[in-house]
Amino acid sequence: MPYPYVLLSAAVSLDGYLDDTGPERLLLSSPADFDRVDEVRASVDAILIGAGTIRADNPRLLVNSAERRAARIAAGRPEYPLKITVSASGDLDPTANFWHTGGQKLLCTTDQGAERAARSGITDHADVVPLGAELDWRRLLEHLHDVRGVRRLMVEGGGTIHTQLLLEELADELHLVLAPLLVGDPKAPRLFGPGAYQTGRLRLLETRRIEDVVLTRYVPTAPGTAGRVTPADRHWLALACDLAALCPPSDTAFSVGAVVVAADGTELARGHSREAGDPVVHAEEAALAKIAPDDPRLPSATVYSSLEPCAHRASRPLPCARLILAAGVRRVVTAWREPDTFVPSADGTGTLTAEGADAVVLPEYEERAKAPNGHLLG
Ligand SMILES: NC(=O)c1ccc[n+]([C@@H]2O[C@H](COP(=O)([O-])OP(=O)(O)OC[C@H]3O[C@@H](n4cnc5c(N)ncnc54)[C@H](OP(=O)(O)O)[C@@H]3O)[C@@H](O)[C@H]2O)c1
Repeated sequence: MPYPYVLLSAAVSLDGYLDDTGPERLLLSSPADFDRVDEVRASVDAILIGAGTIRADNPRLLVNSAERRAARIAAGRPEYPLKITVSASGDLDPTANFWHTGGQKLLCTTDQGAERAARSGITDHADVVPLGAELDWRRLLEHLHDVRGVRRLMVEGGGTIHTQLLLEELADELHLVLAPLLVGDPKAPRLFGPGAYQTGRLRLLETRRIEDVVLTRYVPTAPGTAGRVTPADRHWLALACDLAALCPPSDTAFSVGAVVVAADGTELARGHSREAGDPVVHAEEAALAKIAPDDPRLPSATVYSSLEPCAHRASRPLPCARLILAAGVRRVVTAWREPDTFVPSADGTGTLTAEGADAVVLPEYEERAKAPNGHLLG
């Protein structure tokens, strides 16, 4: 089920706090960084915060730049992104700034929370979406994607919300601003609470100095397990699709990219069709050949391939689906099932699943996988 691209955004003190415990909101970002946040807000379809942040900070959550709002309108988008808050209790002040500024608003809550919100008059200012006895983040994201058309979602805290989205492996990207001050109060809110996060390291995309703060951008790297798809699965599959563009052109074979990734998110190898002067090598074959066959990470690794691994092959003794199984890999994520162009009824997915491996297809990447193969598809 497709979800919006979820971007977590926060500023923290040097000792990892989101705020202090004083009555006023602690300003962590610098003026230029607030403007950067404004730019990110202007780029997204929706902004989400937790009810705790409404209660603590009473934010407006606007796009402040008139030029950016005008550009949104010129592009056929609403002047302001949809504003969303999440509350189990529905215990929200109907006079809070959130409800009376910007464009459309949404309260995602429980059935009980919706009743309470209706009694307090929040329904006069926002669409209230009851999502059952308890709020399930996947259901919420599905609703935003399917019903509200949200494709990019910016989440601006607080810590409870950020922690849950990262723990549930629903965050696609993290924007973290480090501010040069210390809070030192253990009662102050932290960005991330304890929990079973992905093991291994996130990938650093960027560091940027903005006046006296530093922006860092990360993406998670750990693959999902079995049929459970994580944002990292999408990142790795997108990389495999990009690698396909490196293939020497051919009129007799597909251009395919592949990446092999360990369970902790470490990239083990990558490859693409016809690489290194071998006119018949396939992407998965090229990648697997770079990994020692006894590498203990292979049984829990995932192979990402822009095209389903081949099931029949004339140029080598084993097709790629068999090579993957022989390497001990038990999870494959692909963007595109093999068409009948060269091999009728090729079914690499069937070969993999018949041997107990998990084969996941993410059709939202199919067009990207097809892009370097347009001349073969007619
Ligand atoms: N520095 C920054 O970048 C930044 C950004 C944002 C916020 N902050 C700070 O963060 C602090 C607030 O953080 P916080 O952790 O207390 O609050 P929060 O994350 O903003 O909101 C927590 C509230 O959201 C609702 N909620 C959370 N998970 C839910 C779920 N699974 N289902 C239904 N409702 C759910 C609950 O509301 P109900 O209680 O109504 O059920 C919960 O109390 C403030 O001090 C604020 O200044 C800092």
